[in-house]
Amino acid sequence: MDPLFEAAKAVREKAHAPYSNFPVGVALRTASGAVFAGANVENASFPEGWCAETSALGAMVAAGERELAEVWVVAEHHEPVTPCGGCRQRLAEFGRAGTVIVSAGPEGERARWTLAELLPAAFGLRP
Ligand code: THU
Repeated sequence: MDPLFEAAKAVREKAHAPYSNFPVGVALRTASGAVFAGANVENASFPEGWCAETSALGAMVAAGERELAEVWVVAEHHEPVTPCGGCRQRLAEFGRAGTVIVSAGPEGERARWTLAELLPAAFGLRP
């Protein structure tokens, strides 16, 4: 199995999602080959929670990394789970048009897209 799948599945077990009961795990690989993972963190004041993608990106930035190579999202749903709109923009901050986002269930990969497919005509200020 892909190490990103394993990492995302493992961190999903750590999600704090008592309000939605929808735990999500994300693992990403950077251009240097490092892997970072994060889970969603919900809050009793519902809008204050954040997504697994945001947690994983925070860990990446805290480690001094900036270049996304590949991202895996693991969740259980009747359709492959895609990053929300806000997280697409956060991923675009560190990704490229061709950066691959893979959606998986607990059994493995279900779908994959490029960042440009998920967020066409993205706003960005990078050169
Ligand atoms: N969620 C994520 O963490 N990532 C996604 O890609 C989709 C949604 C979270 C947000 C919230 O904690 C829960 O899933 C239900 O929407």
